[in-house]
Amino acid sequence: MPTLLFKSAIDDPLRWKRALEAKMPDLEVCVWPECGNTEKVEYALVWGEIGDMLRTLPNLKIVFSLGAGVDHLLPQEGLPRDVPTVRMLDAALTQGMSEYLMYHVLRFHRRMSEYESQQRARVWRPMPQTEARDCRIGIMGLGVLGGDAAEKFHALGFPVSGWSRGPKSRSDIRCYHGKAQLKAFLRDLRVLVCLLPLTADTTGIINRDTLAALPRGACVVNAARGGHVVDNDLLAALDAGDLAGAVLDVFEHEPLPASHPFWSHPRVTLTPHIASLTNPDTAASHVVDNVRRQRRGEPLVGVVDAAKGY
Ligand code: NAP
Ligand code: GLV
Repeated sequence: MPTLLFKSAIDDPLRWKRALEAKMPDLEVCVWPECGNTEKVEYALVWGEIGDMLRTLPNLKIVFSLGAGVDHLLPQEGLPRDVPTVRMLDAALTQGMSEYLMYHVLRFHRRMSEYESQQRARVWRPMPQTEARDCRIGIMGLGVLGGDAAEKFHALGFPVSGWSRGPKSRSDIRCYHGKAQLKAFLRDLRVLVCLLPLTADTTGIINRDTLAALPRGACVVNAARGGHVVDNDLLAALDAGDLAGAVLDVFEHEPLPASHPFWSHPRVTLTPHIASLTNPDTAASHVVDNVRRQRRGEPLVGVVDAAKGY
């Protein structure tokens, strides 16, 4: 019977064990550190700190990331480089992210935070309404998540621009790629959404220069990683009124320290890294499907390119 080892400090191991075993009854799931015979372990499903744990598994075949992002895993010395790392792909994870983005973009576009303030002050004051077609949304990262969000914003009537590493061609999106086209991508956006993986190339990408290239009054939504944003540059742009608002789901240090100025900034809406949570009941299928593929000698789905970092 193949064995999968689970380790995460923030996910419920028993929920994952039940979900995986329900989809593949002949898979034994053990939870770190209680894994018995390490020689039996062929698969590991992990989030966060792995230490030397994977080095104690001589027959490891796949390392699964519990999340879509692998920035938590790739820099760790304890990650074996001769075993494929597979990231999380799940339609429910994609749907959750698009819901989060649509909610916050519509909230900004329809000035709901201003109406909420007015309600608190018992003020009745209709404000001008912009049309969706005049609100261009720019998505940095046109991968699984960014690609889906782009399609959904287009369906809602918003013009959409996308920025990726390599060139793309899509009839519903104005596509830009590479550093040379970044400024052109930014120059006419009302909302900038970040859905990039965190790599050496993308760390700190939302900085003073990027923000200065946006039109005055734009909004930034970061649902990718905190390391994408230079916090002080974002705060300066908000304080100067250059940016109308920022929606932040992810932070350099999580939980966000209580003393951080984002908590109380009037133009910041923040959430505790919940834009889209991996649901074991749906995501277990991706893990089990890959275990079966590996056992049949078929190509895996969602393998990370370590050289690219995502
Ligand atoms: P993905 O499918 O790998 O897509 C990544 C996209 O980013 C691709 O379009 C890629 O370009 C582009 N990209 C990478 N490096 C770039 C660079 N240097 N310049 C320009 N574009 C670059 O990733 P995904 O599944 O959409 O996930 C994206 C990220 O979302 C994850 O890495 C994770 O950090 C984050 N996430 C957050 C949450 C949350 O709850 N907050 C949940 C899930 C995921 P190419 O297409 O040219 O390769
Ligand atoms: C969450 O942040 C993920 O990477 O799935």
